[in-house]
Amino acid sequence: MKKMTSEEIIRTYIDFFKERGHEEIDSASLVPKNDPSILWVNAGVTPLKKYFDGTVVPKNRRMTSCQKCIRTNDIENVGLTARHHTFFQMLGNFSVGDYFKEEALTWAFELLTSDKYFGFDKEKLYMTVYPDDFEAYDLWVSLGVAPSHIIKLEGNYWEIGEGPSGPDTEIFFDRGEKYDKDKLGIRLLVEEIENDRYIEIWNNVFSQYNAKDGVARSDYLELPSKNIDTGMGVERMACILQEVETNYETDLFMPIMETISEICHLPYTGQMEFKVIADHIRTITFALSDGAVFENVGRGYVLRRLLRRASRMGKKLNINREFLGDLSLVVVENYKEIYPELMSTKNNVKELISKEELLFQKTLLSGEKYSVKVVDKKGNPVRKGHVIFIAYDQVILSNISESGIASFYLPSNLNITGHLYVLSMYSDGPFNDLIASEQITIGTRTLVALDKNTIGSRMMHSWNNYKFNYTNGSYVAPIKENVNLVLELSGNCYLMY
Ligand code: ALA
Repeated sequence: MKKMTSEEIIRTYIDFFKERGHEEIDSASLVPKNDPSILWVNAGVTPLKKYFDGTVVPKNRRMTSCQKCIRTNDIENVGLTARHHTFFQMLGNFSVGDYFKEEALTWAFELLTSDKYFGFDKEKLYMTVYPDDFEAYDLWVSLGVAPSHIIKLEGNYWEIGEGPSGPDTEIFFDRGEKYDKDKLGIRLLVEEIENDRYIEIWNNVFSQYNAKDGVARSDYLELPSKNIDTGMGVERMACILQEVETNYETDLFMPIMETISEICHLPYTGQMEFKVIADHIRTITFALSDGAVFENVGRGYVLRRLLRRASRMGKKLNINREFLGDLSLVVVENYKEIYPELMSTKNNVKELISKEELLFQKTLLSGEKYSVKVVDKKGNPVRKGHVIFIAYDQVILSNISESGIASFYLPSNLNITGHLYVLSMYSDGPFNDLIASEQITIGTRTLVALDKNTIGSRMMHSWNNYKFNYTNGSYVAPIKENVNLVLELSGNCYLMY
């Protein structure tokens, strides 16, 4: 295994595929074009959907890119695991009706294991495959992967939003027992247990079907051709090749960590607050540079929440001033070689961030954490699931603890009296009862009741991978065939000012 900088990782990958007839394409903007099914470009394939679905014929059927991506479905994990981010870079090689499984897997194995390239020890690689995909299984075996390193998983099917989808095979790197304190070994992979030992570094999707909202997977239509869509996480590769504990200690993050350290006068020793700030400032900087803005709806709302979260983390590190604008300049400095477009927007981006943070800080008090007991319709404590509180212009997601307590933050200058009801989760699973909070009083200001539609229009339309459609006061997201997750606005909905 070779020690490489993140730029070397990107060049090694792109050059490998260029040598194999692929055209290098620039990263598209994070703001999707003509695709209302997603808020952000979230994979290398997203800007290429038009080629995969046959709408446009590409100049070259083989392409390779390093694409900027944003995914916010794992936001709860950011800072807690070694490898979750809201912004990340995805390397990919794509075939639109050209090569298929055999070439894709042969090249993937060569690039990973040959000493000419990344030089991984093949004993440390594990593959997961879709159970019916005997071809992928056999290909891995023929390339020299031991059957004990190939795991069949039902979940190996890739799709996000509408468009190209299909069965996939994922490649994991084993970082060893150091990252497996309970010594569960391969069970971590087989039982899909959250862990930092087996790191998914590359996904190869055999993109054959056109995913459509509201259509069951078994009824997806075939795409005009069989395609290859792959995604390798640059941050994760850097973590492994630079042999550091988490992605945050790689060259992609350390300059940001060092600056946070200078600002708060604390050394970086792996604190979660540093990681959240560094993650969020990357996302905000790249997104604003690509033309997104802070707003109370949609994309801009996601950015507003990220900025507030980062600013609150700063406060925990005793940073009592606006600092995220300056930090965005460090992001630009660290990424300008690969994404030169950051340079032309950097002053404007810094100014937008500083203004937004100042605005937020004006509304923030110290020690603004509140806890409420969450009860069901009969007044019994609710111990499972999630509640969503709407407060101010934020939707606050809060896990309910074992003792039925939900903790959350409110902007400090809120003075509220009344019930903090808000949204309830329903499904045939764990969220099968109405959830409302007990009465709480914060200050003296009254709640403002809004009708459900108004509240609805301020809601995010996705949560935890589920995409909700809003109708008449409920959000409905299909989670599996014939099972819907219904997020319903409870009887009394209030928006607090
Ligand atoms: N599109 C695939 C993914 O994002 C490669 O994992």
